[in-house]
Amino acid sequence: MQLIESQTYINLAKAYASETQARTRYEFVEYGMRNEGYKTMAEIVDTIAYQEFNHSRMFYTYLQKASDKPIKNIDIAGGFPFREKWDILNNLRFAADDEHSEARIYIANAKVARKEGFTDIAELFDLTAKVEAFHEKVFLELYAQMKEGTLFKKPAPVVWTCSACGHQAIGTEPWDTCPLCKMKKGCVQLHLETLGTYCPAQPQA
Ligand SMILES: [Fe+2]
Ligand SMILES: [Fe+2]
Repeated sequence: MQLIESQTYINLAKAYASETQARTRYEFVEYGMRNEGYKTMAEIVDTIAYQEFNHSRMFYTYLQKASDKPIKNIDIAGGFPFREKWDILNNLRFAADDEHSEARIYIANAKVARKEGFTDIAELFDLTAKVEAFHEKVFLELYAQMKEGTLFKKPAPVVWTCSACGHQAIGTEPWDTCPLCKMKKGCVQLHLETLGTYCPAQPQA
């Protein structure tokens, strides 16, 4: 079967549309976070947005390989998310939901691709699904910490680091204003187990 005649071709185009939209939505989300002073959270979302860009680049590249001639417009009917507004907490939950459904769709797309004989595209969908499932976990952890008020308040002492100047201190809460560079609390590095940035304070000898 030629890729251009397959369901996988349409699935690649839909996935490209989904990734490019996810990237832009996350730029909106990140913009809102920066506006409200959550600089280090915005940086995490910015990294995810960049990863979505690279997913879209890979799907686009496979579409381009389908023909030596310029690719004609591809008709893709589909439902895409439009729920995010400016509330950070809601946006984190919506993003987690979107990542969850995207991962499920990619797993289904991988099965179709395998059935149609496009093993390398099936592999691409499977690998991307794994990343989206990881993105879901990151968004869920941020959502939980924000909802429970534990972004900057921990039950036990941790190492807090200012991302702007590197100042560090141990405690259950960081500073409101960094004593070294005077940047606000939103610049403090977040503690996320999903990203391996959880830094418990070493027990005192
Ligand atoms: Fe993605
Ligand atoms: Fe993602």
